[in-house]
Amino acid sequence: MHGSRWWQRGVIYQIYPRSFMDSNGDGIGDLRGIRSRLEYLSWLGVDAIWISPIYPSPMADFGYDVSDYCGIDPRFGALDEFDALVHDAHRMGLRVILDYVPNHTSDRHPWFLESRASREGEKRDWYIWRDPAPGGGPPTNWLSEFGGSAWEWDDATGQYYYHAYLKEQPDLNWRYPAVRDAMHEVLRFWLDRGVDGFRVDTIHHLIKDSELRDNPPNPSYRPGMPPHRQLLRQYTTDRPEVHEAVAGMRRVLDGYDDRVLIGEAYLPFDRLMAYYGQDLSGMHLPFNFHLIGAPWNAPAIAEVVREYEAALPPGAWPNWVLGNHDKPRIMSRVGPAQARVAAMLLLTLRGTPTLYYGDEIGMSDVPIAPEQVQDTFEKNVPGLGVGRDPERTPMQWDGGAGGGFTTGAPWLPLGPDLARTNVEVQRADPGSILSLYRALLALRRAEPALAVGRYAPLAAGPDLLAYVREHGGRRLLVALNLTSRPRRLELPSGILGGRLLLATGLDREGELLGGVVDLRADEGVIAEVAPAQGA
Ligand code: NOJ
Ligand code: CA
Repeated sequence: MHGSRWWQRGVIYQIYPRSFMDSNGDGIGDLRGIRSRLEYLSWLGVDAIWISPIYPSPMADFGYDVSDYCGIDPRFGALDEFDALVHDAHRMGLRVILDYVPNHTSDRHPWFLESRASREGEKRDWYIWRDPAPGGGPPTNWLSEFGGSAWEWDDATGQYYYHAYLKEQPDLNWRYPAVRDAMHEVLRFWLDRGVDGFRVDTIHHLIKDSELRDNPPNPSYRPGMPPHRQLLRQYTTDRPEVHEAVAGMRRVLDGYDDRVLIGEAYLPFDRLMAYYGQDLSGMHLPFNFHLIGAPWNAPAIAEVVREYEAALPPGAWPNWVLGNHDKPRIMSRVGPAQARVAAMLLLTLRGTPTLYYGDEIGMSDVPIAPEQVQDTFEKNVPGLGVGRDPERTPMQWDGGAGGGFTTGAPWLPLGPDLARTNVEVQRADPGSILSLYRALLALRRAEPALAVGRYAPLAAGPDLLAYVREHGGRRLLVALNLTSRPRRLELPSGILGGRLLLATGLDREGELLGGVVDLRADEGVIAEVAPAQGA
């Protein structure tokens, strides 16, 4: 895999730190817990961990409200424990990616306390303060992603401040040079400690319209959608000047060896591509979330892959995501049979995959009773199903009380399927979804065609997805049956199936294929292919 970078070949594993492993029985995951489970991650075969925010935070948005960018929240541990985690991870060949939250701080961050203290203060312009509209009320119609106006009135200084998310998350003013400098220092602080890169939170929100124009109504808004969707976010997100800010972050990373910059932006492909930056001077990997929203059928997924591949700028490296801490889990979206097909898809498409903790054991969204709700989004906008607690429940390590996650009371409930859906049981079961994930990761590591090879789609009819990955003359066929009925794939005349390397049922390895591939219901396979004789 000559010439490729670790973040191109590798697979990223997202850890939601509150929920991964609790080392001290307070029911909340922590750094020592993560460290104690590195052996598992190395056994599983991932290459990097991305840890959602671990910085000091009042936890209004569970760490996405940062009150000190250069520390560790005591609930998660301390800096020396962080250093030990990085040290151990590196020793085991695992990279460590941190979450970087540049768009907003906590309202308890000293910068904001100083900013709100007076209109004349040195840090006033570090945030976005505005007078009321001429007739009174908020300066614009801009809405918070988490419900209500995005402007919060501050009585003491008689102005509003802007918050794209909670009012406890005031937006930083990235047009102000001192803010950029301070936030670049934050990057350097962690890069100097050996961090291998960052996942940058909500990057498309960073810059807002300088003229503060009202957002237009969204013609596709329907009741039942989250309230902020009533408006198109034309003047609050994806502003042209954002790319200069991204390039600034990238320049900081480029001062170090081999680090990665990943951007979180939910955008259509044509808009998303701009985040690779002019001449690829922006994000290495603007997250591609389009598999999360796609209807789960072969034509729809084929179209997502086609559009994405076609839209990528020359030289830009692709990436794929099936789930994260903001979205329903893949298991709950597609069901247990297709969750295996989804695993094979994620780990065989061209581009860096990001795997969400627990998906490898087939964890589902856990039902959350009203009195168990933790997520402020759900509390602010109840009844629409926007809450993110179901996909943030504790990792299920074993079937005992606390699920091997905690000796205390977990901060969110464990799943009702704990007895089956846990690491201990599935590690011992050669047919489990965990065994499938591990086999896929091992195959990907062994086969450059899967990690960095070319991608060519095959025509496969309405129920199947099929493609060939190729590197250095070695060609692998991936054939996925998206239906619950058996299906046959006829290979084009130019190619012949060879040895089957891996099936989602983990029970067909070594089988020899000819000109057809017979797939059982909900089955995917990976096989060697060769040119047909005389072809
Ligand atoms: C995106 C994060 O993934 C989400 O969890 C958070 O609530 C918002 N950004 C605000 O930081
Ligand atoms: Ca703990």
